[in-house]
Amino acid sequence: MDSRIGARGLAAALGGWRTRTPTYEALADGIRLLCLDNRVAAHTALPAERELATTLGLSRATVAAAYRSLRESGHIESTRGSGSITLPQVRRGAGRVFNDGDGIDLQQASPAAWPGLAGVMAEVGADSASLVGRPGYDIVGSIELRAAIADRYTARGIPTDPEEILVTNGGQHAIHLVTDALLRPGATALLETPTYPHATEAIKATGARVTGTPVTVDDGWDLDRAVQAFRRARPALAYLMPWFQNPTGRTMTALDAATFRAAAEAAGSVLVIDETTAELAIDSAAPEALDFGHEAVRIGSLGKTVWGGLRVGWVRGDRALIRRLVAARPRRDLGTAEFEQAVATRLLRMMPDILPQRAELLGQGRDLVVAALRASFPGWRIPVPGGGVSLWVGLDAPRSGSLVLAARREGVLLSAGPRFSVDGGYDSYLRVPFTAPSEQMREAVAVLARLWPGVSGRPASATVDEMEAVAAIV
Ligand SMILES: Cc1ncc(COP(=O)(O)O)c(C=O)c1O
Repeated sequence: MDSRIGARGLAAALGGWRTRTPTYEALADGIRLLCLDNRVAAHTALPAERELATTLGLSRATVAAAYRSLRESGHIESTRGSGSITLPQVRRGAGRVFNDGDGIDLQQASPAAWPGLAGVMAEVGADSASLVGRPGYDIVGSIELRAAIADRYTARGIPTDPEEILVTNGGQHAIHLVTDALLRPGATALLETPTYPHATEAIKATGARVTGTPVTVDDGWDLDRAVQAFRRARPALAYLMPWFQNPTGRTMTALDAATFRAAAEAAGSVLVIDETTAELAIDSAAPEALDFGHEAVRIGSLGKTVWGGLRVGWVRGDRALIRRLVAARPRRDLGTAEFEQAVATRLLRMMPDILPQRAELLGQGRDLVVAALRASFPGWRIPVPGGGVSLWVGLDAPRSGSLVLAARREGVLLSAGPRFSVDGGYDSYLRVPFTAPSEQMREAVAVLARLWPGVSGRPASATVDEMEAVAAIV
């Protein structure tokens, strides 16, 4: 057993779990969602039945029934002496069993591959005889790729030398390497809330504490609270997504950026700027340039601009940081494949052609999902972000978790609002990516529309005629 969660901690993580009857099933559902989202890690000891019953104001029999239900669904196992322990969950296809590929997976926001990618791969493949004569991977990144990445920063007004670039196996790997290097157990990291959950996980795994600074769809970053958070927490680092923030889709203004930069400087914090979504503008050619200073550590990836299957990302930092990251890397991996690096090098030179095509694809997805959701859920707050990969939808009842579990039983995999929170909340939010094939997105919205009245206790809002009208529009 790795860890335990106390009754108070579990109650806080559960949030508004009393969403259906019988109560024991509502409690079991709440715990299931925490396990599926990895907010309660596998091999965590749950509180004893009596303790949880007291904290939640339930009878012990109700908690016992919830634990029994969780045992039956394979989420926990209970042994005499060590109590109840969570079991590892397969995120894809868990819940009611369906075969891989049968479901609609809207947990990842992965756009389809850029259509020209196969051609670029074939060109690189034509040269594979010389490639296979080499080691085939390297720990820093090829000089050609690092130069191509550095050139793009320089063109943006951030003069960069290839020695300030480390090539990684995707953006997540870059987040992991950077946070591992900059954080120690007991240090604090500041994150936007809501934020990209795998960044939170990587940061928590270092033993650092996390604290959130809010960002909303309507008002963006709360600068007063951000400044206070820097003053109070003196975070070692702040992890930010200034362009098309995941999940809100918001982009910082020059004032936002200047405020974060000044607050970080005053607190001695390193800004870690994740630019994975930065080039996904839909409505304008390119968002405003923002100044975070030369000291900011920047993370990038081709995962959304070209294809998630191309595991190439990077870190831009000063030479000392890059050397530290290189020194720390071999204990987990030995480098990035040269084939993928050669493909990435060519792609970076083609970005001026690729990005407008991405904007068109993402724009079509966004407009389809916005139209379908607006027609089916007049009471929901459905934003139209200027770019990015998903909508941060405001529900008219705090039932995000219940909706996600119900949808899962129908084969539609989504992430509930609380998964994106740093310090709790967001039961009234749902992240809906608009990157899946059109048919799947239409079907997913139809499933949600069918389930929501039962989950929320609210009457269905769209009539059959209205639904047909939507089908005609989208
Ligand atoms: C903000 C952000 N950073 C990083 C990543 C991970 O990117 P990659 O697929 O390159 O590892 C994602 C993927 O969803 C993301 O949304």
